Amino acid sequence: MQIISTANELASYLNTVKNNGNIGFVPTMGALHEGHLNLIRTSKQNDDTTICSVFVNKIQFTNEDDFIKYPRNIEQDIKLLEQVGCDCVFIPTQEVVFPIDYKYEIFNLGKIEHILEGLYRPGHFQGVCNVVNRFIELIQPNKLYLGIKDLQQCKVIEKMIHLKKYEPAVELIFCATSRNEKGLALSSRNKRLSNDAKNKALILIEMLKSAKEQILSKSSNLDTIKQFCITTILTNGFESVDYFEFADQHFELVNDSSTNQNPVYILTAATIEGVRLIDNIIIGYETNS
Ligand code: PAF
Repeated sequence: MQIISTANELASYLNTVKNNGNIGFVPTMGALHEGHLNLIRTSKQNDDTTICSVFVNKIQFTNEDDFIKYPRNIEQDIKLLEQVGCDCVFIPTQEVVFPIDYKYEIFNLGKIEHILEGLYRPGHFQGVCNVVNRFIELIQPNKLYLGIKDLQQCKVIEKMIHLKKYEPAVELIFCATSRNEKGLALSSRNKRLSNDAKNKALILIEMLKSAKEQILSKSSNLDTIKQFCITTILTNGFESVDYFEFADQHFELVNDSSTNQNPVYILTAATIEGVRLIDNIIIGYETNS
């Protein structure tokens, strides 16, 4: 596996591989887990060359403490990437990604930027879009792989790719959420949880499934489902629930007074042991449940 950290090294590596066929790209912030490795495996099945980036992107953190505490373990990441046969890992410094004179872009993302995660993490999605845009410029991948655990991020990046007119040269591939044997969505942040909290955190997927079942069986209205799920999450060890919401196919929030009451996505964010977890479920999409 090639380990690259500068833009020049990357450019010469890309020169050697671009005639071999498709390039698949998996952007990450490191602290890799099976979820990331599954994205690499999927790219390896689809593409001739698989490149993974490891870069903890400061500008997407709204909370300095979260940035500092973000788990970093580059030796272990390299080992795991080698084990799954990743062709190249790009581990740039801040200056390589965003040189001092870099002109950050402001993407016109619309409403999606300010709801759910965007409400709790102002500026987060502009930070994500800037870094992913920068990686697309540097790597010029044919395919970009993202996990739908970060569903809103997937939708936001889809919008950015559309705004930048990157399609069809860059194809976005969304991959199912990887979960542990009990159903907890894999996340680098899980490393900060005790075993007890990891068990308690299962209530998130249980409530998402319960909400989905109640919607499909039309047994309750959305506001009642939401209240039940939030209360149950809180009585099962979570300190707070930022949201438990429903969104339609356009990613607009849906409640009982909305004109369109056809939720397609159910999304939640909640904090346990000071660690903020997110998860979601898609109605009518079995592999994520
Ligand atoms: O999902 C993540 O880990 C990050 O938001 C991403 C896409 C690598 C951009 O920094």
